Amino acid sequence: MAESIGKGGRRVIVLGTGGTIAGRASAAGDNIGYTAGEVGVAELLGGIEPPPGISLLAEQVAQIDSKDMSFAIWQALALRCAHWLAEPGVAGIVITHGTDTLEETAFFLQSVLAPSKPVVLTCAMRPATALAPDGPQNVRDAIVVASTPGAQGVVAVCAGTVHSAFDVQKVHTYRLDAFDSGDAGPVAYVEEGALREIRNWPTPAGVASHAFERMAGATSWPRVEILMSHAEARGEIVDALLLERKHSGGANSVQGLVLAATGNGTLHHALEGAALRAQAEGVAVVRATRCSQGHILPRPKEVLRDAGALTPVKARIALMLELLSERRA
Ligand code: SIN
Repeated sequence: MAESIGKGGRRVIVLGTGGTIAGRASAAGDNIGYTAGEVGVAELLGGIEPPPGISLLAEQVAQIDSKDMSFAIWQALALRCAHWLAEPGVAGIVITHGTDTLEETAFFLQSVLAPSKPVVLTCAMRPATALAPDGPQNVRDAIVVASTPGAQGVVAVCAGTVHSAFDVQKVHTYRLDAFDSGDAGPVAYVEEGALREIRNWPTPAGVASHAFERMAGATSWPRVEILMSHAEARGEIVDALLLERKHSGGANSVQGLVLAATGNGTLHHALEGAALRAQAEGVAVVRATRCSQGHILPRPKEVLRDAGALTPVKARIALMLELLSERRA
């Protein structure tokens, strides 16, 4: 169901998926005791004036707390984005989303769409019913980004800052400015309805041409688990997954492991030993650093490949898409 606002010739499509931005609390002063994903996306646009020449079209794709994000919703969202991006009159897309898995959805969409128009995820740390909600300003800023000529790729907008899908991470549990781009820094700032650009937009390069088709047609997704290396880490969980794989052999058994490694990609020797056994048995294994900043600098003779600058959750998405693209059609 789509709802239209304004009469401008270029359109920004606003896709709703839920989150705190659409959250409702029973008391206006309550910023944490709310239910996420209750207020419809068309209602979130109430009182927002589109920029000159732009009209808004709202469409509800999902209505969830983003901690419960699923592959089915990602698939539906990617398909709606692809549909709207192909429309010549569409300047860009805004997606209202929960903060908790926003960085995963952003990276997933950049990986499968690599859009040459802007796809802008936005969110809020306070529910829509708060005394001073942050959602309306974030949505307004996101619409500015989505309608700016030259903007491209998947980005996130929160608290006036534009982050690339590759770099964005939620770094705070409570502050309104909850996201960071680490070493890379933000792409731009939105200041009173104007964009101040700092560096390049995420580029469409580096996407497997069939990534979108494989994702769109998938009825099941490769199972990729994340395991963390830490003091006294052990290999038993890996061995249990291998045992299950041996006995079930089905599509639901583990096909990939992302190891959230210490520092520059190092692993506890017990976990590393088990991961090497998994790799020898055909499981795809990737090391991603559990540090919140920096990337893994490759060392000679490493047997388990690394995910560079990707965080464990983003490395998992990259590995899932890689395994999906390797499937026989
Ligand atoms: C969610 O991620 O859906 C809930 C938390 C939030 O949006 O801040």
